[in-house]
Amino acid sequence: MSEAMELKQHAIDYAQQIPNNVNLSNDRVLQRALEQWQPRFLNWWHLTGPADTATLQVYLRTAISVDRDGWANFGYVRMPEYRWGIFLTPHDEDRKISFGEHRGENAWQEVPGEYRSTLRRIIVTQGDTEPASVEQQKLLGKTCPSLYDLRNLFQVNVEEGRHLWAMVYLLHRYFGRDGREEGEALLQRRSGDENNPRILTAFNEKTSNWLAFFMFTFFTDRDGKFQLAALAESGFDPLSRTCRFMLTEEAHHMFVGESGVARILQRTCEVMRDRGVSDAGQVRAQGVIDLETLQRYVNFHYSVTLDLFGAEVSSNAASFFASGVKGRYKETNLSDDHLLGSDRYAVQEVEDGRIVEKSVPALTALNARLRDDYTREIQAAVDRWNRIPEKFRIPFRVKLPHSGFHRKIGAFAGHHISPDGQLVSSRTWEAEAARWLPSDSDHEFVDSLMGRVVDPGMFANWIGPPARGINGLPVEFEYVRFD
Ligand SMILES: [Fe+2]
Ligand SMILES: [Fe+2]
Repeated sequence: MSEAMELKQHAIDYAQQIPNNVNLSNDRVLQRALEQWQPRFLNWWHLTGPADTATLQVYLRTAISVDRDGWANFGYVRMPEYRWGIFLTPHDEDRKISFGEHRGENAWQEVPGEYRSTLRRIIVTQGDTEPASVEQQKLLGKTCPSLYDLRNLFQVNVEEGRHLWAMVYLLHRYFGRDGREEGEALLQRRSGDENNPRILTAFNEKTSNWLAFFMFTFFTDRDGKFQLAALAESGFDPLSRTCRFMLTEEAHHMFVGESGVARILQRTCEVMRDRGVSDAGQVRAQGVIDLETLQRYVNFHYSVTLDLFGAEVSSNAASFFASGVKGRYKETNLSDDHLLGSDRYAVQEVEDGRIVEKSVPALTALNARLRDDYTREIQAAVDRWNRIPEKFRIPFRVKLPHSGFHRKIGAFAGHHISPDGQLVSSRTWEAEAARWLPSDSDHEFVDSLMGRVVDPGMFANWIGPPARGINGLPVEFEYVRFD
């Protein structure tokens, strides 16, 4: 194939009402169904998407092709005019299923009847997280620390909206009437709603300030990455191709989180050095976030995100794998037999008042394994954060709590475990909780720092500037225009 033809094949058709690279116009019934869903999506966006953004012009990236390099196009976009669409990585006709009992067979282009309800549930659960995070972040724009950050928030928001499109396309295209009903329900549930909440707990928590936003994009979007990576291995090829493209967008969300927290650390450490303060109260008096509070936010967001991986030992996870529906992280790069027939895996649990390690069939421990892969990546990023206090000769280090700390799901649910992994009584837990998790007064303090900084190149007092701007532009570029 010539280079020009290849480009054309992967390019996204923006002439259509719904931009896509799936030949939507060849399937009139599907096209009409999605065109009916489109105004309802936009209505959801107006109601629950970022507040007061109808007239803003935001310097956003929009996908123009799904090629590995150079898929992104940057320019000012009025937020409601963002072109949400359906983008899958190119179809590889030779793709085989790489794990489980169907290993070696051709990847499925349609949903196998026996896995229909499983696949539907997986797609709905993933799809539900996408609008949920937009809802959680609805009000953050009002207290942005800079135009650069405001733009990044909106970039994350529009892409989470597009991820909803990605899942709704699969539901409409492959699940018929049930799929269309699920597509509606995805617009009806609301994060934090008492009667009709989002499916997963972490997506019903509040993201009420920018420290929480950076923690969320660092910890929880990275759970998204690992779930998408496992689904990118799926034998159901359209799901795999959808997730592969979503992963390219996810990378920026995690960058926003990691660099956001790094800039907070940088600013706090600078202030501690320059003004010679170290006590949390004194640090707060300088209008920056004390390191102890930052650690408590880490403890909270890490622990609620670990719950998203599900129970460590899970027969559902085993059957997802055996049936070829959901693989392991980087499945195709692993060098075992991809069946896990007799392999074992070590998990922790509580037994007779102690945390013990147990060897269980690897097939049942796939949630634990994915979580361990996740934690390895998180730990590497935390190590990068810790170079900042080290550079300032400040003895503080960010520490991930024990995986049993503050858990509601899995082997540690119902137990009280301290951040350093000690099983403690409920009395101790209650006495220490305010030292381990953000308290109401911590949230109030962080909320009190949030202002609104919208002069180009200016940053709130509690956060440092980024090392560089977006798309090679200077940090002081006018990333959002209000006229
Ligand atoms: Fe997403
Ligand atoms: Fe994301």
